Amino acid sequence: MTTETTDDAIAFEIDAQLQDRPDWLYLLREFEALYRHGSAGGSKAIRAHRKKVRDRLSASIAKNAGFVERAPAEKPVTAHFNRALDLGERGAMQGMARALRQVRGRLVWEYGYEKVPPALARKYAYCEVLGPRGPVRSDKLILGFVLFAPNTTYPQHSHREIEESYISVAGAWSENNAAVYAPGSLILNRSGDEHRITTGELDPCLLAYAWTGSSERLTAPGMKLSAPRRKPG
Ligand SMILES: [Fe+2]
Repeated sequence: MTTETTDDAIAFEIDAQLQDRPDWLYLLREFEALYRHGSAGGSKAIRAHRKKVRDRLSASIAKNAGFVERAPAEKPVTAHFNRALDLGERGAMQGMARALRQVRGRLVWEYGYEKVPPALARKYAYCEVLGPRGPVRSDKLILGFVLFAPNTTYPQHSHREIEESYISVAGAWSENNAAVYAPGSLILNRSGDEHRITTGELDPCLLAYAWTGSSERLTAPGMKLSAPRRKPG
């Protein structure tokens, strides 16, 4: 067992290596395949983001990254997780949904915000699978999943010096009222892009996400919802 320190705030007991945890390795391989083989739809920015994600992920796999076991945690929204996985396993993202089911009892669901609006606390949570806090250790990339209950509005926010992509695993959702995204779709939010998410009325929505940024920023992303806009006048 070794202790790794990434900054003053975080010190972990690394209790295993990725190769000792094949279920997590298979899940990461699903991410790698998605970011390697999916289309960028002709967008240079998306192509560059996909490359960044898969290069950082491949490096973590190649070096047999450290693995940190954390105590599993649920949130109210995880009552919808079964349905989300069932939907995921029927659609374009079935490989990812099946790999995620294998680790479902070991996920750490959290909010990420110091102050979570009460309505959101019942309808949203995320879990990380790779990042500065583990379970698979990486300073350069965060991979995880976010789960929304049906009929949820995730308020407007942006990320400073972090590039974020979402890949839809199950359920329908919309960002900034611009389109409806189905399983397999990828959305890129660049640093500073304001975004607001709504989910379909009947089913939960499960998204895989990737964050790239500096290790300082990924270690302390400072998640904040944007202040509501005042009505003019
Ligand atoms: Fe976001």
